[in-house]
Amino acid sequence: MKQVAILISGGGSNMLALVRDMAEGGYARPVLVVANDPTAKGLERAAAQGIPVAAVDHRPFGRDREAFEAALAAKIDATNPDILCLAGFMRILTPGFIRRYQGRMLNIHPSLLPKYPGLHTHARALAAGDAEAGCTVHEVTAELDAGPLLGQARVPVLPGDTEDRLAARVLAREHQLYPRVLRRFAVGDRTPLLLP
Ligand code: GAR
Repeated sequence: MKQVAILISGGGSNMLALVRDMAEGGYARPVLVVANDPTAKGLERAAAQGIPVAAVDHRPFGRDREAFEAALAAKIDATNPDILCLAGFMRILTPGFIRRYQGRMLNIHPSLLPKYPGLHTHARALAAGDAEAGCTVHEVTAELDAGPLLGQARVPVLPGDTEDRLAARVLAREHQLYPRVLRRFAVGDRTPLLLP
C-alpha cells in the first residue's frame, strides 16, 4: 500500500478529504501530516484521526528557505512516504526540495490553471468577469503552479458571487477532485481527470 505524507498550512479540509478516501479505498495510507504553522487547525484534526503529525515552523528560519526545507524534509523522510500531497500548503518551495520529491509530489490549486497561479485566485476570477472557476491538481515542478495537469473540476460563477461564496463552491469540488486524482496516481495513472 502506498504511503502518503500531506503538507498543510491551515484548516486541512482537503487533507481530511484525502484521509477519508484513503481509509475508504484502502489504496494508500497517511503516514504524516506536517504543517509549517504549529497552530494550523488541520494538525489537531489529523491527530484526532490517529495520524502522526509534525510541525516545522518556517518563521525561525527567516529567509533561509533551504534550512527550513531541510528540517521539513527530515520529518517527511523519517516516515518514508511514496507520495507527497500539498493540501493548502502555502510556502513556496525551492527547486532543490522539489527535485528531491519530483514525480511523487501533488498540489491542489484553487483555479483552472494555467489561469491564476499564485494567490487571490477567486478575486481575480471575479474581477475578470469569468463565467466559470474551479480547481486543479497537478504534479509539482520547479515552476510555480505549472506542473503536469492531473485533474480539474469546474464550477459556475453565479450572479452576486463574492470571493467567499465562490471559494466555498470551489472548495467543495476540491474535496471531490483531490481524492479521485490521488486514487489514480497511487496506481500510476497520470492521465488528467477532467470533471465537469
Ligand atoms: C484550498 O482552497 C487550496 O486549494 C488552497 O488553499 C485552500 C486550503 O484549504 N491552496 C492554495 O491556494 C495553494 N496555493 P484547506 O486547508 O481547508 O484544505
